[in-house]
Amino acid sequence: MARGEIIRKLFQSFSHNEREGFYAAAMELIQEEKSKNHNLLARDLERILKNGYSKALPASNTLYGNYPEEPKDRETGLSLIDVKLFSLSWDDVILSKDNLEILQRVALENRKQEILEAYGLRPKSKLLFCGPPGCGKTLTSKVLSGVLGIPLAYINLTAVFSSYLGETATNLKKIFDYVENGEWVVLFDEFDAIARDRNTLNEHGEVKRLVNSLLQLIDASSSNSLFIAATNHESLLDNAIWRRFDEIIFFAKPDLKLRKKLLKCYLSRIRYSGINLGDFAAELEEATGADIERICIDTIKTVILRGDQELTHADLTAAVERYLERSRIIVSSGESPEAGACESV
Ligand SMILES: Nc1ncnc2c1ncn2[C@@H]1O[C@H](COP(=O)(O)OP(=O)(O)OP(=O)(O)O)[C@@H](O)[C@H]1O
Ligand SMILES: [Mg+2]
Repeated sequence: MARGEIIRKLFQSFSHNEREGFYAAAMELIQEEKSKNHNLLARDLERILKNGYSKALPASNTLYGNYPEEPKDRETGLSLIDVKLFSLSWDDVILSKDNLEILQRVALENRKQEILEAYGLRPKSKLLFCGPPGCGKTLTSKVLSGVLGIPLAYINLTAVFSSYLGETATNLKKIFDYVENGEWVVLFDEFDAIARDRNTLNEHGEVKRLVNSLLQLIDASSSNSLFIAATNHESLLDNAIWRRFDEIIFFAKPDLKLRKKLLKCYLSRIRYSGINLGDFAAELEEATGADIERICIDTIKTVILRGDQELTHADLTAAVERYLERSRIIVSSGESPEAGACESV
């Protein structure tokens, strides 16, 4: 079948929700790439099609976001895992050059894991994301789901750890039983949820034990997943734990250059001219990515509500002023990035 015809069939079967048709067309495309000796691409596509989707999901609902029912905490009924496939790319997150390089390398190793395995090597599969709130840890995990083409399995650690201690082990087992059935970007978000329960848990040395058993379960996992732990409280982790991650990535508050990029990115949907974003970036020294996003959305709303289409210097100045005032209130209330930090796990 001609390439154009295959692509048409792909689109048609996707929009008609015909899984079998989509699969058949995708396989034809892969065969065509093989016949052209594009073996790396063909293998990559095959891996995404067979492992990324069908391994993770039951046959009837592979492509349309219906995943096996997520396990729940027995006591609270809260879901222990949320699963979603993100269609984000590297353009959706603003990262330092170093972090971007490390992360793209991790993504490449995971995409080409079959080649590495042929040489007896394993891709990097355990990452620790740390750094202050609002600097892109969760967003980057979603981007990895997008670039790898596999769903993000978001683990709600608050739900896992809030129950009785015995129940926590059961919850971890339920999570790993689920994870073993597919290939995912598994995000253990808000590792500091452990810290919140430190008083009860630390009494019995439980926090350390729980983090250890979590890492052991990750090590023992036979799923080709990428595991990420994210925390704002990296000071809680002791040396033994740091060493067990393949990569440790610190998401710092953005520097001047990145703040300017963030402003440009979040203002891209509105017209503006004659505004020097560099000047505003310089004023936002302590701002996080989330702060800058909020400032931009605030400004865009002002313009829309005024019935205008173009942002003015005064609009952006007003939004930055509001942000700075808000920060002053937070600082004077005694809240700081260090608030809530506690002793080492
Ligand atoms: N580096 C960044 N690039 C682009 N957008 C960002 C960045 N950092 C933060 N944002 C914006 O702020 C939002 C919140 O960021 P995110 O949830 O990734 O922060 P986090 O580091 O996970 O914070 P927390 O520690 O509180 O969980 C993102 O969804 C995004 O809109
Ligand atoms: Mg987060």
